[in-house]
Amino acid sequence: MASSNNVLDTNAMTLTRFTLAEQKKAPHATGDLTQLLVSIQTAVKAISSAVRKAGIAQLYGLAGDVNVQGEEVKKLDVLANDLFINMLTSSYTTCLLVSEENKTVIEVEKERQGKYIVCFDPLDGSSNIDCLVSIGSIFSIYRKSSDGDPTVNDALQPGNTLVAAGYALYGSATMMVISTGDGVNGFMLDPSIGEFVLTDPGMKIKEKGKIYSLNEGYANLWDPAVAEYVLGKKAKKAGARYIGSMVADVHRTIKYGGIFMYPATADSPKGKLRLLYECNPMAFLVEQAGGKATTGKMRILDIVPTDIHQRTPIFLGSAGDVQEIIDLYTKHNL
Ligand code: AHM
Ligand code: MG
Repeated sequence: MASSNNVLDTNAMTLTRFTLAEQKKAPHATGDLTQLLVSIQTAVKAISSAVRKAGIAQLYGLAGDVNVQGEEVKKLDVLANDLFINMLTSSYTTCLLVSEENKTVIEVEKERQGKYIVCFDPLDGSSNIDCLVSIGSIFSIYRKSSDGDPTVNDALQPGNTLVAAGYALYGSATMMVISTGDGVNGFMLDPSIGEFVLTDPGMKIKEKGKIYSLNEGYANLWDPAVAEYVLGKKAKKAGARYIGSMVADVHRTIKYGGIFMYPATADSPKGKLRLLYECNPMAFLVEQAGGKATTGKMRILDIVPTDIHQRTPIFLGSAGDVQEIIDLYTKHNL
C-alpha cells in the first residue's frame, strides 16, 4: 500500500519490484527475465539522461561535435545502441541480439550466454532526434528454442512466441510500457529517485477511437483500401495526429484509442517499419491491451520472419478501428 502522507512514497511499486512479484507467480522461474529487464532499464535510464541533455557539457561541450575533453561525441543513436548492447551482454541472460543499428546478429560471448534473444531498436524516430520531439526505444524478448550454438534462425521466430516486449518513450516524461504476456503496465521514471514507478497498471485500449495517424504525404502512393479508409475518417471528421515517432504515436494510440498506420506504398510495397524490433513488440503490446495489429491481410504476430531486418505494413490500435481496415482489404480483394 502506498503511504499517502509522505512526500516521498516509502512503498513505491517500482518496475523491478513489480517484475520480481510477477516472477514469484511462476514457480519455476529462474529470475533471468527479471535480470534482463533490469539491464534494459539501466540502458533506458542512461538514454533518457542523454536525450534530456542532462550532461550537456559532455554531449556538446562548447563546439558542436567535440566535447570539453576534446573527444568526439557519440551521436545519440550510437550511444543508445552501445548502451543496449553492453547492458544486455553483461546481464548473463542473453545469447543473441538483433539491433536496428547492426547489419548482422550479435552473438553474446560464450561465458556470458543466457537463454534469451533480444531484438531492439535502441533509438527510434531518427528524424525527430535533433529537433527535440519525442523519441523512443523498442524491444522484444524471445526464448532460444533450439539446442546448440545460437544462429540467426533463432532470431527468426514469429511474434506469437514472444516472452515479453516493451518500449521506452522519451517524451514530456520518460515512461516504460511493458508486457510479459499478462496485460500491459506503464511505469513513469521518477527522476528524484531514478526509478520507474507503476503509474498505469493494466493499460487497455478503447474499443473504438477518434484519432487516425499516418503520414498523409504519401496519399498518392496508397492502395485503394487505405485511400478509402482515410476518406471515411475525414468524412467522420476524425482527429488526425502524426508525430513520426512510432513509440509516441503508438503510446498515444494505447492511451487515447484510434489507429496508427504505416501502410505499403507504391514505392515501398512492404512499408517502412521493421517486423522484429518495431512491429512485433508493438503488436504484442497492443494485443495485450485488447487491441489489434494487422498487415491488413494477416495478424502481425503470425508472420514468420525470413530476414532479421524485414519490413511489414502495419495497422494497429482500437480493435473496432483496425477491423474496419481489415474489412476494406477483404472488400478490395487485396
Ligand atoms: P527510424 O527507424 O529511421 O527512426 O524510422 C522509423 C520511424 C518511426 O518511428 C515512424 O513511425 C516512421 O519512421 C515515420 O516515417 P515517415 O517519416 O516516413 O512518416
Ligand atoms: Mg526505427
